[in-house]
Amino acid sequence: MQEQLHKLRDEALAKVEEASTTEQLDEVRVAYFGRKGLLKAAMKQLKDVPADQRPALGQLANAVKNAVTGAISERREFIQRVEAQVTAPGMDISLPGVCRSIGREHPLRRTEAELREVFARLGFEVAEGPEVELEYYNFEALNIPADHPARDGFDTFYIEGDVVLRSHTSPVQIRVMEQRQPPIRVVVPGRVYRPDTADATHSPVFHQIEGLVVGEGVTFADLKAVLTMAMRELFGADTETRFRPSFFPFTEPSAEVDVSYEVDGERRWLELLGAGMVHPKVFEAVGYDPERYTGFAFGMGIDRVAMLKYGIPDIRLLMENNLRFLEQL
Ligand code: FA5
Repeated sequence: MQEQLHKLRDEALAKVEEASTTEQLDEVRVAYFGRKGLLKAAMKQLKDVPADQRPALGQLANAVKNAVTGAISERREFIQRVEAQVTAPGMDISLPGVCRSIGREHPLRRTEAELREVFARLGFEVAEGPEVELEYYNFEALNIPADHPARDGFDTFYIEGDVVLRSHTSPVQIRVMEQRQPPIRVVVPGRVYRPDTADATHSPVFHQIEGLVVGEGVTFADLKAVLTMAMRELFGADTETRFRPSFFPFTEPSAEVDVSYEVDGERRWLELLGAGMVHPKVFEAVGYDPERYTGFAFGMGIDRVAMLKYGIPDIRLLMENNLRFLEQL
């Protein structure tokens, strides 16, 4: 009898859950509590059980009855609420639902994460530095004295006195070297600022990832190998890199590095980064012995990497927060 009551309860509760109209719910109620209802019948059998079992079974039967009637009235309220909503004036349940769009990572952030990964695989750690920087780190320590014409290339926004917005990630080279001794192998991603006029490939706010390797016997061949490998990882195995002689006050020799890409079957080059062997004056500024250590550094435009990766024709598209553009990437 006990088993039978449990079974009745479980079946009744399942049927209550299944009912989706008040009519269906009434059918369930009649099936269990009506004149010939199943629960009613079970209650009637109680008088035939031995007297010593009757109180316990009576209690169980009552509990089952309460559980099922409770579930029925809850379900009734729910169905009535839904019916009220569906029949409310102005409600058209045949209209398609509103699809909520799911956000995703901005292409710049995705590119930065990929760069971190590529360099992590090549054994680089990640360091960070402040965007609001001292003139000393942005210029002097990098061998760019106040009166040097090379300052123009790294000109920046001045906050006040000797506080500036950094115009490249290179000042973090100095901050890292001041804090530790070689060997060093770090990359530094971050935002930088320049009073550049915006055009298809320039923005006054953009992103760079700096690289710095210092040790004994580090050569330009290591620089070429690391950058060539990184570019192939990023853009595919047949990517070519082109090193052009250049000038930076903080490296000697210096190079500008372009990466090949194709448009309509025609090969073109985009300048992605500046690089070179760390200048002895920079080592002197941080107290390293330039006779003992050599190193290389590079600074890459992350926005430009994103442009190449995703075929974005104009850098400004990355800053405008235009969802019609961002949703395509
Ligand atoms: C520098 O900023 C050097 N600090 C790079 C460097 C680091 C050289 C370490 C040697 C050793 P440059 O001004 O060329 O160099 O900028 C580096 C890269 O940043 C460029 O190749 C380009 O990809 C990107 N870049 C520069 N200016 C802009 C800009 N206005 N908008 C978007 N990307 C830019």
